[in-house]
Amino acid sequence: MKPKLTVEICMGSSCYSRGNSESLGIIEQFCEENDISAEIAIKGCLCMNVCAKGPTLIINGQTFNGVNPACVADLLKFNLRDTAKQ
Ligand code: FES
Repeated sequence: MKPKLTVEICMGSSCYSRGNSESLGIIEQFCEENDISAEIAIKGCLCMNVCAKGPTLIINGQTFNGVNPACVADLLKFNLRDTAKQ
């Protein structure tokens, strides 16, 4: 089965230290709790070259800057709902 979402999360030092380390754990926990690990492909990268705007992640090609870990689960839910409409 092809993943519904591809989540690219920046693990560069700037993004990592400002929230993406926590966001990664939240994404993994969200997948486990909802039994949707096969539907979400998680990729890490070392820098997306927008450090000043971070923490940054990209969901299905759409860039989200200044991502607060508290919002990550909602971002996933919103984007999963979006793909369900297609
Ligand atoms: S460290 Fe994330 S954009 Fe550079």
